[in-house]
Amino acid sequence: MAVVRGMTRVRSQSPPHCLSLNSQQKCFFTMFRNILIGISAALILQHILSVIYSLGFHKRAYNHRPGSCRVVTGIDSGSEDIHVLRNGLALITSGIDLTPLGHLMDPSGLTWKGRIYLFDFKQPNANVTELPILGSFDHSDFRPHGISVWEEETQTTVFVVNHKQHREAIEVLSLNQDNKSLQYLYSITDPLMRSVNDVVAVGSNSFYFTNDGYNNQLFKRFLERFLKFPWGNVIYYDGDAGRGQVVVSRGLEPNGINRSPDGRYIYVSSPIVGTVTVYEQQADHALQPIQVIDLSTSPDNIYVDSTSGDLWLGCHMIGYQSMLHFQNFTQPAASQVLHIQLNSKVAPYTYDIREAYVDDGRQVSGSSVAAYYNKQLLIGSVAHKLAHCQVVAF
Ligand SMILES: *[C@@H]1O[C@H](CO)[C@@H](O)[C@H](O)[C@H]1NC(C)=O
Ligand SMILES: *[C@@H]1O[C@H](CO)[C@@H](O)[C@H](O)[C@H]1NC(C)=O
Ligand SMILES: *[C@@H]1O[C@H](CO)[C@@H](O)[C@H](O)[C@H]1NC(C)=O
Repeated sequence: MAVVRGMTRVRSQSPPHCLSLNSQQKCFFTMFRNILIGISAALILQHILSVIYSLGFHKRAYNHRPGSCRVVTGIDSGSEDIHVLRNGLALITSGIDLTPLGHLMDPSGLTWKGRIYLFDFKQPNANVTELPILGSFDHSDFRPHGISVWEEETQTTVFVVNHKQHREAIEVLSLNQDNKSLQYLYSITDPLMRSVNDVVAVGSNSFYFTNDGYNNQLFKRFLERFLKFPWGNVIYYDGDAGRGQVVVSRGLEPNGINRSPDGRYIYVSSPIVGTVTVYEQQADHALQPIQVIDLSTSPDNIYVDSTSGDLWLGCHMIGYQSMLHFQNFTQPAASQVLHIQLNSKVAPYTYDIREAYVDDGRQVSGSSVAAYYNKQLLIGSVAHKLAHCQVVAF
């Protein structure tokens, strides 16, 4: 009944001038315009709802551990990325600047000093030590982010993303393993370094890096992220040629990047999309997408177990908590570690995903990386603590 009455009302409301030919055209355009407005409104609403959903207000972290875990003392200004050498020495970046990434940062973090710390998996009860950086290195302009190491018999080359005050750079250092120090070699800058997040070395003089976005100013970057513009990319940098080349031209916040132990595949995470994409490296270093692994959480850095090839991910499982945490480090943000066990050697992989660790933010807030070595896990965070776990079962 109601429907019939409604229809009658609509019909009775249609303006009488619609009956002439000219007015019929007008009516058509009015209807067309209204449909367009309706569709646009629905799309905008859908976008806003999807952003709200991705912030995870409906999620809750239930703590669990793979074994006993402790906070490693002596490192409180974040441990954003970790690289582990074959012998179990872990290099850890600390003191990130989050403002170029369009995050409001807790004022206490703005004055952090950038450092690289060392943790030795062969001494699991020990704490971190700071690796001194020797040479003509500007320590006052060092805000490190992603890190990657290229190991050779005679030389261990370290690549570190640095958000310098006025430009993005990748610092190249040499690790002296005998006396545990870093020698500064040179800085690489390139017009293609817009908002560099992570780096993976593929030679002593070449690497891939991710730009997680285009804009560096707070509000512009906020809009870019909110509107989900795919303005990030992946660049290959050839040190001999002295320049970079775009290998993935469009991406929604490409973040962590790493490689398979045989070097055949490159992995890139996107926390906004909630995926890890598997690329195959071509002869000219172009990247061919092979597979997308959906995680339904926000993966940050990707750690690759050099023995098994398995992937370990530090994740931000509750987005709004991480955002609030970056603005005020006393606000806890859930941490989550995922393990992707690869069941095949060749991509597209068959795999199993397991959750190895969850913390509500009281032990570690905002986990960004999880490095696995010899039944131990080192869990780093963007702007909080570093945890060490024994891996018994999960
Ligand atoms: C690491 O730090 C903790 C807390 O300060 C301390 O109890 C422990 O003894 C330290 N470990 C070593 C090997 O010094
Ligand atoms: C470590 O050894 C290198 C090369 O021999 C030397 O230049 C550097 O000063 C040493 N570092 C420390 C901290 O002693
Ligand atoms: C962070 O939050 C704490 C507790 O809610 C509050 O006392 C402190 O003033 C806040 N700090 C900043 C910088 O807003």
